Amino acid sequence: MQPQASKKKKPAKERQVLVCRGTGCESQKAKILFDNLEHELKMLGLDDDIEVKFTGCHGFCQQGPTVIVMPAGTFYCNVQPEDADEIVKIDIKDGGKVERLLFIDPKTKERVLSYKDMKFFSPQRRIVLKNCGFINPEDIDDYIAVGGYQGIQKALGGSRMDVINEIKKSGLRGRGGGGFPTGMKWEFCHNSPGDQKYLICNADEGDPGAFMDRAVLEGDPHAVLEGMMIAAYAIGASKAYIYCRAEYPMAYERSMIAIDQATKRGFLGKKIFGSDMDFEIKLKLGAGAFVCGEETALMASIEGKRGMPMPRPPFPAVKGLFGKPTNINNVETFGNIATIMTKGGDWFASVGTEKSKGTKVFALAGKISYSGLVEIPMGTPLREIIDEIGGGIPNKRKFKAAQTGGPSGGCIPSEHFDIPMDYENLTQVGSIMGSGGLIVTDETTCMVDMAKFFLGFTQKESCGKCVPCRLGTKKMLEVLGDISKGKATMEDLEQLLELAQDVKGGSLCGLGQTAPNPVLSTVRYFRDEYEAHILRKECPARVCVDLIKFEVNEENCQKCGLCFKACPAGAVSWEKKQTAKIDVSKCIKCRSCILACRFNAID
Ligand SMILES: Cc1cc2nc3c(=O)[nH]c(=O)nc-3n(C[C@H](O)[C@H](O)[C@H](O)COP(=O)(O)O)c2cc1C
Ligand code: SF4
Ligand code: SF4
Ligand code: FES
Repeated sequence: MQPQASKKKKPAKERQVLVCRGTGCESQKAKILFDNLEHELKMLGLDDDIEVKFTGCHGFCQQGPTVIVMPAGTFYCNVQPEDADEIVKIDIKDGGKVERLLFIDPKTKERVLSYKDMKFFSPQRRIVLKNCGFINPEDIDDYIAVGGYQGIQKALGGSRMDVINEIKKSGLRGRGGGGFPTGMKWEFCHNSPGDQKYLICNADEGDPGAFMDRAVLEGDPHAVLEGMMIAAYAIGASKAYIYCRAEYPMAYERSMIAIDQATKRGFLGKKIFGSDMDFEIKLKLGAGAFVCGEETALMASIEGKRGMPMPRPPFPAVKGLFGKPTNINNVETFGNIATIMTKGGDWFASVGTEKSKGTKVFALAGKISYSGLVEIPMGTPLREIIDEIGGGIPNKRKFKAAQTGGPSGGCIPSEHFDIPMDYENLTQVGSIMGSGGLIVTDETTCMVDMAKFFLGFTQKESCGKCVPCRLGTKKMLEVLGDISKGKATMEDLEQLLELAQDVKGGSLCGLGQTAPNPVLSTVRYFRDEYEAHILRKECPARVCVDLIKFEVNEENCQKCGLCFKACPAGAVSWEKKQTAKIDVSKCIKCRSCILACRFNAID
C-alpha cells in the first residue's frame, strides 16, 4: 500500500502564506494573525489562488511571529495581527514587499528579502527540521506530499536486520544526551528474546532552555511517528509510548492528532500498510520532573509508579517496560530515521565528522544577537554558530564561554572558540553535546553565578534516592552561595571540588553523576574568577550583588545619565554634565544601572 494523499484534498497551491504557529509565535497572537490573513485574502477574492497555511516553528522564534510568503520565500518578522492587511495588499496582491516587516541584516544593515539569504538560515543544513515551518503539522496529507511515509514502506520491504544495518551504516547516535549508536541499540533489543517488546519515544525534554524536541513534535509529528514505526519494525515491537513533557500541551495535542490520522489511514493499528505488522502508539503525559527523562525513571512513570531511576543492568533492551525488552530513543533521534531510510545510511554518513554523523539541532540562547533553533552539520565550528548564524554577541561585548549540554554539561571558553562541534571534541574540552542546549555568555556573565544556577536546578530535581546526590548537591550549593557572597575560603573551594567527585562517583543515575559538571568546568577554566570572589571579595562580572558596592566611580563616569534613566527605584541622581550618584538606602540591587552603563563606571 503506497501512502497517498486523501482524494478529497485539493492539490497544494503554489502560492502560500506560511504562518508559524509554534508555541512561541502562538503566544504572540499568531492565531489572530492567521485568521486575519485568511479574512483579507477572502475580501480581495484571492483565497482560491493563495493558501494561508499554519506551520510549526521556523526556528527564529526571537523574531516571531514569523510569516513566509512562498514561493519567493519572503520572510516577515515580528508580524502583528493588524499587519495582515498590508501583507495581503502590498505583497500578495501587488507583488511588492512590506519593507518594514523584512529582517534587517545586523552587519550590512540591509533588508533581506528571502529567508534563504538570511545568515541565520543559510548555513543551516536541515534534516530533522526540514519540514518544520513548511508543512501543516495537523495535516497528514501535507506530510505525505513531501515524501512522508516512504521510509516505512521501504523498511517493510526488507528484513528487520536490513533496517538495523542501514541505521548502523548511517552512524546515527542518540540525540537525547548519551550519544549511543542507535543501530547498535536497536540490534540489542532485536536480539533480546521476548513475546512482547516495547518502543518508547522520550519527549520529556527537561533541560532548561532546550526546545528542539518540542519544535519537532509541534512542527512535524508524523516524521516522529514514522521513525517510531521503522524502529518498531526493526526490533519487533507492537506497542509504543510517546512520553511527552506535561508542559508541552501543543506538542501533546499535535502528536495526538497525528496518531489519530495515521490510525485512520491504516498506518497504525492492525497490519499496518497492509503488512503483517501490528503497531499502536499511546501518548503518556510526563510527570513534571527532570529525572523522569532518565530512561529507567521514565519507564517507572509509564507503569504508574513514582519516577525514580533504577540500577542498570538489566538494561531496558533486556528487561524494560513492564519487564519486557524495550527500546528508548529521543524525539530528534526518531526525527532522523525516515530520511535515513529513504536516502540511505551512506548519504547520512556523508554529513558530519568521522565519528559524529549527520546534523545536530541546537537551542541557541543567552548573550547572542539571534537566538533560536539551529540545525547544523556535526563538526561546524562554534565560532560559525555564534558569529554567523547567531549574529554575534550584542552591545560590542566579548564572547566569554558557551555552556553546552545544559545542567549536565560544561563550558567552552574563548580559547576553544573554533572548536568543531561534535561528540568527541566537546568531550575533550570537558563538556558534552547533551541534548543540544547552547547558552552563550559574555563578560557580563559571572561563571560562579552560572554554575550556581545549573546546580540549583539539579539540586531541586534530585529525586533523593542517593545520599551523595541528595545531600552532596545541597552542600555544594551552599558553598557556591558562600562564594558568591564573599564568605568562602580557599579551603571551601577545595571541599567543593572534593564533594563534586563524591557526587559524581556515588550517584546512581545520570542526574547525580553529571550534576557537578558545570562547577567542575567553570573552576577548570575560570578559577581566577572563583578566587576573585574568595580572596578579593569581588565579582569581576558584577553579577553577585553582595559583592557590588553600587557606587559610581567618578573617574570612569562619562556623565551620560543612562543609569539615572534605567533605575526603577529612583536611587540614582544625575543632572546634565554631572557625575551620577547612587543613594544606597533607596537601591534595590536590581543591577539595572550596571547593565545600562557603557563605561563600567559602577563598582
Ligand atoms: C536526568 C536525566 C534526564 C534525561 N532527560 C532526557 C530527556 O528529556 N529526553 C531524552 O531524550 N533523553 C533524556 N535523558 C537520556 C535518556 O535517559 C536516554 O538515554 C535517551 O532517551 C535515549 O535516547 P537516544 O539514544 O535516542 O539518545 C535523560 C537522562 C538523565 C540522566
Ligand atoms: S543520582 Fe540523584 S536523581 Fe539519580 S537516583 Fe540518585 S538521588 Fe535520584
Ligand atoms: S551610566 Fe555610567 S557613565 Fe553614565 S552617568 Fe551612570 S555611571 Fe556615569
Ligand atoms: S515558534 Fe514561531 S518561529 Fe519558533
